[in-house]
Amino acid sequence: MQIIAIYPGTFDPITNGHLDLIARASRLFQKVIVAVAVNAGKSPLFTLEERVHLVKQAAINFPNVTVVGFDTLLVDCARQHGATVILRGLRAVSDFEYEFQMAGMNRNLAPELETLFLTPSEKYTFISSSVIKAIAQLHGDISAFVPSCVQQQFKQKFTAN
Ligand code: COA
Repeated sequence: MQIIAIYPGTFDPITNGHLDLIARASRLFQKVIVAVAVNAGKSPLFTLEERVHLVKQAAINFPNVTVVGFDTLLVDCARQHGATVILRGLRAVSDFEYEFQMAGMNRNLAPELETLFLTPSEKYTFISSSVIKAIAQLHGDISAFVPSCVQQQFKQKFTAN
């Protein structure tokens, strides 16, 4: 039986921590959908198109990974793509409460979907997209924390503005 997993997030922008999770997921599941949320509530720095493009470039070496944008409920996006597993990353205990609530709500909305948690490599546990944006905006070196396409996109964004 083919199990399709969906890995949702805002990915503003994708980091090496997210990529580490995608690599782990691609080894575990036959197909992985990375679902990039519009998430207007977070006022993303990058547009949805930019974020989808960056995830596609970063995950280009994983043939079983597909990247989509979505502006619906996650459970509806999962159903649309035939996913039965929702994947989320847990970096630290502090992530747990929010993730536990989201998993519970998604289970109530769609009982047929299971949420599974993976932990990224320890060397990425301190990374978050907000921290990366804060460093990049002050022209700090983010090369160890993000794929090179993200670095390029920051350069373009901050040179253009
Ligand atoms: N490595 C490094 N950083 C990681 C990480 C990892 N493996 N996993 C998560 N993060 C960081 C992200 O960088 C991000 O940092 P930030 O808060 O500084 O931006 C933070 O953890 C969480 O971001 P992300 O993983 O992108 O998830 P999110 O919380 O932004 O996404 C959605 C939440 C999109 C999954 C959720 O809002 C959703 O499902 N929306 C769709 C609408 C819906 O169905 N709502 C009801 C949900 S119950």
